Amino acid sequence: MKKTLIALCTLAVGGMSLSACGGSEAADDGSITMGFAQVGAESGWRTANTTSIQDSAEEAGIDLKFSDAQQKQENQIKSIRSYIQQKVDVIAFSPVVETGWDAVLQEAKRAKIPVVLTDRAVDTEDTSLYVTFIGSDFVEEGEKAGQWLVDNADASDVDKDGAVNVVELQGTTGSAPAIDRKKGFEDKIAADSTIKITESQTGDFTRDGGKQVMEAFLQSNPKIDVVYAHNDDMGLGAIEAIKAAGKKPGTDIKIITVDAVKDGMTALAAGEINFIVECSPLLGPQLMDVAEKVVAGEEVPDRIVTEETTFTPEQAAEALPDRKY
Ligand code: AHR
Repeated sequence: MKKTLIALCTLAVGGMSLSACGGSEAADDGSITMGFAQVGAESGWRTANTTSIQDSAEEAGIDLKFSDAQQKQENQIKSIRSYIQQKVDVIAFSPVVETGWDAVLQEAKRAKIPVVLTDRAVDTEDTSLYVTFIGSDFVEEGEKAGQWLVDNADASDVDKDGAVNVVELQGTTGSAPAIDRKKGFEDKIAADSTIKITESQTGDFTRDGGKQVMEAFLQSNPKIDVVYAHNDDMGLGAIEAIKAAGKKPGTDIKIITVDAVKDGMTALAAGEINFIVECSPLLGPQLMDVAEKVVAGEEVPDRIVTEETTFTPEQAAEALPDRKY
């Protein structure tokens, strides 16, 4: 295991996090140990993300200590504290929620262990508490979803009464993707006064959560034109609820989701989802690359944004045969 001095020495210089004190402290066997605190196993996206991290660590020869927080912040904090005690070389995690991390990140800083954020950001004024953040632009994802609806509002007004009623299935309350995807979507649909969010509740990013919330929405709302689900799994749960209510998903009610995992893409190609905004879970290779650089005392950018696209049903059908997750 390497010992590093770098966490305390991180400076923000022109958009780069610079490990100013230089890499390793002492002779070592050359190996890197990473403690990774995962959110949970709530979705197909998360499963693909975990596989990407585990496979990439093995490929890079990085010794990975992995924990699953079961979507609870207190479990993630416990894992991070345990990684600090074990004196790992680098800690990486995808925060369940945005706030409440300063105390444990201060502890990592005092222990001189660098922290890399992946997938989700933390809300803190002290950006010296982490070296970099690798992941998607969730606001932009929400904007892409909202823009699609603005461009297709006429087709989405199922009963042509001049109002496009949208129900929103939010991700985990307080999480960066739920906050940002909501904001991006709302910003874009503001351009069209016929589009209104009539209901919005959390389904916690799970299929079951999406199904249950959609069942309740269907019972209390006679007219739903569009479902905007913050991930594929909740959209797939909504499809089950819509079918059980005797309606046709994708036709009687349009569906927009985020992620583009295989199950979502299959439903899109079959016309049961109408549009998917991609969110890539394949963050493992970038994370290992950054971890090696950080431990070696090299510069890394303070923000690494994942490249993503969007899919229509036709594009999904074309992409599906090569889809790995
Ligand atoms: O943080 C990424 C989100 O978390 C994915 O969109 C969702 O499927 C997952 O649970």
